[in-house]
Amino acid sequence: MANRIRLDKYLSNSGYGSRKEIKKLLKNGSTKVDGQVVKDSSFKVEPGINTVMIDGNIIEYRKHVYIMMNKPAGVISATYDSREETVIDILEEYYKKFDLFPVGRLDKDTEGLLLLTNDGKLAHNLLSPKKHVDKTYYAKVDGEITLEDCVKFKDGVIIDNDYKTLPANLEIIKAGTISKVHITIREGKFHQIKKMIKAVGKKVIYLKRISMGNLKLDNDLEIGEYRELTGDEHSSLVNR
Ligand code: URA
Repeated sequence: MANRIRLDKYLSNSGYGSRKEIKKLLKNGSTKVDGQVVKDSSFKVEPGINTVMIDGNIIEYRKHVYIMMNKPAGVISATYDSREETVIDILEEYYKKFDLFPVGRLDKDTEGLLLLTNDGKLAHNLLSPKKHVDKTYYAKVDGEITLEDCVKFKDGVIIDNDYKTLPANLEIIKAGTISKVHITIREGKFHQIKKMIKAVGKKVIYLKRISMGNLKLDNDLEIGEYRELTGDEHSSLVNR
């Protein structure tokens, strides 16, 4: 009994639109619960117990959706924008129904791992400054990254005039006129990586996030591709 929810919630969580759209849908009499036509949005159903059908097709209940995207440069990490293309705009129609939002932000020119979900609780847990979720980036830097830079990152560097970042890990992959590095930070300040690299006198010329907490970007995802998380990936985020 305790798990009973309104039919409109059941259908909106399962990707059938807003409550208003569902009211309209129910009116046309195509929705059945356990074989009976139901037109009342507030009708209560129990996921897994009652069978909900639209036009003869069983509608499985989806509480939350979790998508891993390899974000391309050129799109913004927002749900809506009147001028710019967003990470939601590039999803196929099916996923646009779920009220997904990006968990945190990547800059317009940053690529890589972006989690999209409609699970506000998980998003809050991953973003809360108190939870210190590690985020690792691959960066190409204009200028030679040195071991001294690594030491400075270990201590924290000053950005935004007077803010000292938490200790971060800077790992040199290749040092040269163009350097390649991995950087792990535990916060998510605006433009944080770019500002930290600037604080040691250099400039980020390419940035890609490769992991967030236990979640690693799937190397099989081409830029702009996405897929739902596996059960294991989801559990690894929830049970940190
Ligand atoms: N740091 C940045 O500077 N940009 C991002 O997109 C993410 C982290």
